[in-house]
Amino acid sequence: MGLAPLEKKRGDMRPLLEKLHKDHINLARLLDLMSHELDALSAGHEANFDLKIEMLDYIEHYAEQSHHPTEDQVNKVAFRKKSMKEHKPLYERITKEHSDLIGLARNYRKTLEGAMQGEVLLREEVETRGREFVALQRQHIDLEEQEVFPLVESVLSDKDWQKLEAEIAHGEDPLFNRQDYNRFRSLIDYLQAHEDE
Ligand SMILES: [Fe+2]
Repeated sequence: MGLAPLEKKRGDMRPLLEKLHKDHINLARLLDLMSHELDALSAGHEANFDLKIEMLDYIEHYAEQSHHPTEDQVNKVAFRKKSMKEHKPLYERITKEHSDLIGLARNYRKTLEGAMQGEVLLREEVETRGREFVALQRQHIDLEEQEVFPLVESVLSDKDWQKLEAEIAHGEDPLFNRQDYNRFRSLIDYLQAHEDE
């Protein structure tokens, strides 16, 4: 998956959906960088563990605590509609993937922390766990962009959106909006240095 299909204009999108879509673009960029870093690790280059940990910190704190819960709230209302009955397996799949992604991130973090403490044997596992995490994230974003969002858009009414907008406290992105330099120093520098990639 590249950024091109994600960046395609989607017409008049609901603000909430547009925000989620923007999160996906940012997340996809981060996953490309993560994957680039894993290539460097497998090529035997010095591993930048701080950077990898910060990437995970961002994904765990923002994506898991703000992005996915928002999607869950929107999906819950959308998939409850009568006309969405046949899409129940899709709803169950994306909900399960949200929790699987948390598990994969935890495994990756545990391996990374072990490798940082000098457990040499874990370097190879860092790559395996990292690639596993990147692959599911990418596939999950694709599924949401291609199947879930269009369905949600087609089924929710103006009233549903107004209600959701009022209910959801969508947190501010601490990396792409607020640039929290205390928390994401290595990552902000890295993103700036790799702006054109
Ligand atoms: Fe998402």
